[in-house]
Amino acid sequence: MVSLDFPPAHEPLTFDDYAHTDDLASAETLPARWYTDPRFLELEKERIFYKTWQPVGRADQVRRPGDFFACDVVGQPLVITRGLDHKLRAFYNVCPHRAGPVATGQGNRKSLQCKYHGWTYDLQGKLMNAPEFEGVKNWKKEDVCLTSIQVEEWGPWVFVNLDPQGEPMQNIYGPIHDEIIRKGWDLGKMSLVERRDYVIDCNWKVYVDNYLEGYHLPIAHPGLFRELDYDQYRVDTFRYYSSQYAPIRPVSGEVRDRRYVRTEEEAEALYYWIFPNVMLNIYLDNTSINIILPLDHNKTLTIFEWYFEQPGTGEGWESMQSIIQFSDQIQQEDIEIVENVQKGLQSNAYNKGRFSAKRENGVHHFQSLIHEFLTRPDKQARTGKS
Ligand code: FES
Ligand SMILES: [Fe+2]
Repeated sequence: MVSLDFPPAHEPLTFDDYAHTDDLASAETLPARWYTDPRFLELEKERIFYKTWQPVGRADQVRRPGDFFACDVVGQPLVITRGLDHKLRAFYNVCPHRAGPVATGQGNRKSLQCKYHGWTYDLQGKLMNAPEFEGVKNWKKEDVCLTSIQVEEWGPWVFVNLDPQGEPMQNIYGPIHDEIIRKGWDLGKMSLVERRDYVIDCNWKVYVDNYLEGYHLPIAHPGLFRELDYDQYRVDTFRYYSSQYAPIRPVSGEVRDRRYVRTEEEAEALYYWIFPNVMLNIYLDNTSINIILPLDHNKTLTIFEWYFEQPGTGEGWESMQSIIQFSDQIQQEDIEIVENVQKGLQSNAYNKGRFSAKRENGVHHFQSLIHEFLTRPDKQARTGKS
């Protein structure tokens, strides 16, 4: 029984209750305690969320020199700035004096002033002024600056990676970018029209597992199931992402209920999941992003944002609200199932399961990456920490 498998809290976390194999037909799912033991989330922050590219805001929030916004990556406070030299930068939003915040919210300024004792920094992170700090030994104003991190702009978003050794974003998102360009689509033209946040009582991996298979469509999403050609539905996996092929069922007779589909181009949509927690749904004139963020080991925030190329105009705009509504309905169906799955994982009855070799390759791919990142030796300790 799973409750007996818990090591006492002071013992180091072990991974030997999971034997990974690439062979889907022989593979087992991740053990239940990987979803229920809070220490797994602590390790996932260090080894996954702080080592991968994370979307933290929108490019239009830092378009002009002097623009800035505060944000965070799973508990790490950050600030993004557009310098007077037009360069985009990202820093920990932590003052080197006594750890106050140097920015809150968003705005446009020539400098950032710490909210605690008023030290001021330029938009390149350098300390400009520290009031009443004369006479302090072994300290030079010129040596003090905010800790900077990697930042990239892609499409309508700003991404950061807290790992100074982290792989360039191009290595991860490059092939997806190329595929979008090949279609002649331009993500950079999209602007935000709506955002919905959902707080869900499950481990973040339960939500991602569920997203990565179409196996639950017939039972959990009868409405969506009617729209899609289930037989052809498939998930293709790549090194750090997977894509879903979800063709629309051939139209026969009545088309009024087919809210999910608007045009031929819609049927050509691109659906991606990028390790660990980003989903992109890309169409000709609109796109949506889902960002999955752990709030606790059994609580998850999912942020859904919809972007449109020309808000307020065109045929597609007319059906925008019904697309959002349909997506909301599917999300409610998923929430019900994933919250029950979390309870199942916490029960005494369950430890590990098996995969449908036909339908659950995407889940196995995700779980393999979780295992890989959690068990690989640290290349280097994080900046500033030993
Ligand atoms: S903590 Fe920033 S000025 Fe003191
Ligand atoms: Fe679902």
